[in-house]
Amino acid sequence: MKTVLAIETSCDDTSVAVVTETGFVRHVISANQNKAHEIFGGIVPEIASRNHTHHLLPLVDVCLRHAGVTLAEIDGIAVTSCPGLIGSLMVGVVTAKSIALAAGKPFIGINHLEGHLLAPFLSDDDYQPPAEFSYPYIALAISGGHTSLYRIDAVGEYQVLGATIDDAAGEAFDKFGKMVGLGFPGGVRVDQHAGHGRSDRFVFVRAMMHEEHLNFSFSGMKASAQRVVQGLSATEKEELASDLTHKEPRHGVLADLCAGFQEAVVDVLLDRLARAVARHGVRRAVLTGGVSANSSLRARAAQWASAEGVQLVVPPIRYCTDNAAMIGFAGILRMGKGEFSEQTLGPRARANLGPAPLPENFPEWLRRAKS
Ligand code: KG4
Ligand code: ZN
Repeated sequence: MKTVLAIETSCDDTSVAVVTETGFVRHVISANQNKAHEIFGGIVPEIASRNHTHHLLPLVDVCLRHAGVTLAEIDGIAVTSCPGLIGSLMVGVVTAKSIALAAGKPFIGINHLEGHLLAPFLSDDDYQPPAEFSYPYIALAISGGHTSLYRIDAVGEYQVLGATIDDAAGEAFDKFGKMVGLGFPGGVRVDQHAGHGRSDRFVFVRAMMHEEHLNFSFSGMKASAQRVVQGLSATEKEELASDLTHKEPRHGVLADLCAGFQEAVVDVLLDRLARAVARHGVRRAVLTGGVSANSSLRARAAQWASAEGVQLVVPPIRYCTDNAAMIGFAGILRMGKGEFSEQTLGPRARANLGPAPLPENFPEWLRRAKS
């Protein structure tokens, strides 16, 4: 059975995995850096890349040992080479190339988004994807840096159906979390508090809902959140401050704000996903990327899928958030097709899997903003 060693360092998580050609994850190990960035209220690229240099080689060592393989036994190395933070990508790419050269193994640079798109096929000792799941499928890739809809027909055959024209969904969650005082990273905390709130107390804008194209916009929603937070009464502000000091999430202004905002984001995401599925007549859908960890999104997507007779696959959270296993699987499939990278390969901060088609009547100023 062919096996790869995979490295993912595109953002702030350092992740290493050993994956087989069937998508079985023999081991995956990640180090997150939330503590290092929390005090800055966001990811500091320079700190992220320095931490990758500290974490990466020890993680490679531990991962190989836990997977029960040696470098000599693996068939190749896969590494995220784009898109992402350039300094972070650089650490992964240089390390992968060095290991490949020293061990005399082939290597391949992988687009991070391709990893997310192929994550629904990953399996391990505790998780098996549905046996009948296959191509084609519609995937919604939602993370801190990306919000895009794709049609996937085969390995390497990805059509971009739509993408955000401004903020990513995870970025919107993180900015909202910061706005209400939950700090960074906001997404998971907003989710926890929203579970105790009522979504109809505060109203947030849902941009581009019911429009024909499949693009997203979250900056208007962020601006409307700012207006809602600034417009709180003195009593509500006091209650919000008190909710924030309370250790456990509870019902109150904070929970209602989070529930309202979360529902607005989920409404938009599901509206676009449902539209793409209907338009393409493809009855299989996938949620992938860090935001697909969101509990309301998972629950409402499952309801929608069962009502519409759509097969929905949402990988376990460990394969939704950034991880090297998905990069390894994309890498081994591409190597299986005879694709390899040269030692001259460098990281690229920006890279799409394909240009997003804009509809004929898309406003000219937005078209310019995108280019
Ligand atoms: O895919 P990912 O781990 O890294 C990127 O490639 O960006 O996604 C991270 C994003 C962050 O913005 C984080 O706030 C968001 O996913 N996220 C969530 C939840 N868990 C993580 N957003 C909403 N609800 C969650 N439960
Ligand atoms: Zn990601």
